Amino acid sequence: MTFLLKEAGRRSRRLARQACDVALLWPLRSLLRQAAHLLGNDRAFASADRRLLEDHILPHFAAAPEPLSVLFVGVHWYTRRCEQVLSAHRYRTIDIDPRAARHGSTQGHVTASATEVASHFPPASVDLVVVNGVFGWGLNDRAQVEAAARGFFEVLREGGDLVVGWNDIIGRRPHPVAPALEAAGFARAEFPPLATQVIAVPGSNRHRFEFFRKPRRAW
Ligand SMILES: C[S@@+](CC[C@H](N)C(=O)[O-])C[C@H]1O[C@@H](n2cnc3c(N)ncnc32)[C@H](O)[C@@H]1O
Repeated sequence: MTFLLKEAGRRSRRLARQACDVALLWPLRSLLRQAAHLLGNDRAFASADRRLLEDHILPHFAAAPEPLSVLFVGVHWYTRRCEQVLSAHRYRTIDIDPRAARHGSTQGHVTASATEVASHFPPASVDLVVVNGVFGWGLNDRAQVEAAARGFFEVLREGGDLVVGWNDIIGRRPHPVAPALEAAGFARAEFPPLATQVIAVPGSNRHRFEFFRKPRRAW
């Protein structure tokens, strides 16, 4: 009984810390990043997950010997660097918000929901889909998560990769994404440089990167 009470106490303190971080630290970091951006420094105050994405995950795919067709979901001023990292490849973007279009890819941007991705990109036309900070930031409920999962599966070629980044915290947890992706046909894949399928980034925003692949058909 004492153990259960102590555990409940620990859990509620952890949740309170998380809620406090999200309510206070995130807006503060966001303000500092915005200020640094206006002063011409887009990298200052970048979070650990953003650095991991820009410095390790995207460069791994950018090193592919052949040009890839990449679809990046959700754009903002701070995603421009993603386009730079993948500049040797065909890089296109999609965002539901028309105001985001000015941050979209110079090679092609679509204003639409990711749930309708298959209406905008031909089947099996994409080698890599990156969906970072969109599940839980707009793609939230079961119908949306499942529709997006089916759409990503349709537009990816066989053997194509899907990188998902999301925040495992109160208020940002989407309907479970991995089961929806697996139901759509995706298999978990390894991120070779770290030999892992999931990266839990240390930090209060509990960012997780998860790697999936559209399996090749066995004939
Ligand atoms: C937190 S930002 C993440 C931006 C970026 N992907 C990144 O790596 O940080 C979330 C973005 O997802 C977009 N978004 C939300 N719901 C969406 C949906 N259903 N389809 C496409 N984009 C969506 C929002 O408009 C916003 O620009």
